[in-house]
Amino acid sequence: MRHVLYAVMCAAPPVHHVRRLVSAAHARDFDVCVILTPTAADWLADSRAELEELTGHPVRSAYKRPADPDVLPQAHAVLVAPASFNTINKWAAGISDTLALGLINEAIGLEIPVLAVPHSKGALQAHPAYRRSLAALEDAGVELLLPDAAVTSQTFPWERALDRVSRRLR
Ligand SMILES: Cc1cc2nc3c(=O)[nH]c(=O)nc-3n(C[C@H](O)[C@H](O)[C@H](O)COP(=O)(O)O)c2cc1C
Repeated sequence: MRHVLYAVMCAAPPVHHVRRLVSAAHARDFDVCVILTPTAADWLADSRAELEELTGHPVRSAYKRPADPDVLPQAHAVLVAPASFNTINKWAAGISDTLALGLINEAIGLEIPVLAVPHSKGALQAHPAYRRSLAALEDAGVELLLPDAAVTSQTFPWERALDRVSRRLR
């Protein structure tokens, strides 16, 4: 059985490398669904159709209307990468005002394996709310992969993240 991976992606520069993530996940036989925050969806507006073709699923970034059907299969695992400062802090506080946040909040409650790979500059990482948020998420069962300080969009650890997700599903 192919495992369904939700790739939840925020508005930080590594999101422009979404194709790398999708290819690497397909190479590991994941069925990948891309979920973008509204700002990330705006950044990738021109790539949306191509991503839908690549993944075979709609790219979702907004809540459906109540009567609309669910269009994505149930997730077996969730990768939140890149995870922005903004989404990390809102997630830790249980805020669900974007579809991305709603799904990752639910994933905690459903005990679906969730790995987050934050990406933000040092000045934001030093903010006390951010450190509290990371600790709260870990406490809630979210696995964190914290890239080293020198990470760039080019060196973002997609493969290591997928290694970790695969390990959780074994
Ligand atoms: C060029 C650019 C680069 C950015 N890089 C980052 C980043 O690496 N990490 C981050 O947390 N926010 C970054 N931001 C700010 C986020 O895009 C902003 O906080 C946004 O509200 C995040 O929304 P989201 O969490 O819903 O995706 C960047 C913004 C711009 C315009």
